[in-house]
Amino acid sequence: MENKSKGRIKIFFTILEMTVVFSTAQVSAVVTFDEVNKKIFTPICASCHSGGFPDADLDLTQYTSIKSKEVVVPFDPQKSLLLQKVVSGEMPAGGDALSETQIQLIRDWISDGALDAPPAATLNLKSINPLFGSIQGGYFMDILGENFTPDTEVTLDNKPCTEKKVISTNQINCRVPKAEGPGKVDVKVTLGSLSSTLEKSFEYRLPLGPTFSALYTHVFKPKCIGCHSGNNPPHDLDMSSYETLMSHRRAIVPGDLKKSRLYKMVSRGKMPLKPGSSKKDDDDSEEDDEQQADPLPQQEIEAIAHWILQGALNN
Ligand code: HEC
Ligand code: HEC
Repeated sequence: MENKSKGRIKIFFTILEMTVVFSTAQVSAVVTFDEVNKKIFTPICASCHSGGFPDADLDLTQYTSIKSKEVVVPFDPQKSLLLQKVVSGEMPAGGDALSETQIQLIRDWISDGALDAPPAATLNLKSINPLFGSIQGGYFMDILGENFTPDTEVTLDNKPCTEKKVISTNQINCRVPKAEGPGKVDVKVTLGSLSSTLEKSFEYRLPLGPTFSALYTHVFKPKCIGCHSGNNPPHDLDMSSYETLMSHRRAIVPGDLKKSRLYKMVSRGKMPLKPGSSKKDDDDSEEDDEQQADPLPQQEIEAIAHWILQGALNN
């Protein structure tokens, strides 16, 4: 008898717990300015912080005033002057300090992005950067769009993009997950029932192998041949084929990195140059007039080094 009722009570509590968990999972409502204004700013702060000449020139009943005075840093309660003032008890000046519940409401509002109105019922993924990377993952990606919140999830090929940082309602930064193989995958942002996808927008690539064909496809062709080909390439260095590249005696010296000009130039960031910045042959202009483009990524420099050390074969 006693056992039975204990069992019943236990079941009752289990159901209660499930209900609670379920409902908190569903309620992901964002705290907005309206709520904080109604519960705190208007009743407690407005006597000083509103009207024609508000104290500290800060009208707490006007969202635009709060924004322009920069007393809140969206998503970052710690750095927000407004929160510091109420936590320290400095504000409300002369009145009772805010209760922990009131302070928490302000904190939540700021962590939710210090929004004016509830986020629109749309989520918009516009672009990503970079557009490709090694299948090993581990590097960071910027995701640009609209109406992002701290709860917005990002996935690549349905795998979560980790260490997510919501920089603003328009930008998220996160670490690209590892992929099983090369290919283009969907990038997707999700918030509750909302989602937005850029289909096949990110390309996982195999790590660059130290072969001429890999280097030609991924480095020389896209980044060098624009200048280093044709009738009169700079320093007679024509990179449009294995034969022309190797016919330049100084550019590649198989097995010897120190003597290979090409390796020296890229490892020092001297090549590639920015398109359009090649020699102005007018006067004794200094070498530094030429603008260097972004240096090659480490992975590409290393692949060039290995290829040279392995004999710079036509492989
Ligand atoms: C009795 C008047 C009074 C009340 C009520 C009051 N404040 Fe203030 N507040 C001031 C004055 C005066 C200053 C400027 C001097 C200072 O910073 O201490 C100020 C400054 C501030 C600042 C700093 C603004 C800046 O740019 O430096 C913040 C933030 C602030 N108040 C928030 C609040 C909040 C939030 C409340 C309500 C919970 C509140 N205040 C209630 C008088 C008041
Ligand atoms: C925008 C045009 C441009 C691009 C792109 C470019 N180069 Fe050059 N490159 C030049 C010019 C101009 C020179 C001559 C520089 C000088 O005289 O200082 C040069 C010189 C060199 C030399 C020196 C050759 C020698 O005889 O000393 C090497 C090696 C070289 N480039 C390799 C590369 C590689 C590798 C890439 C691609 C990763 C690349 N360049 C991309 C314009 C370019």
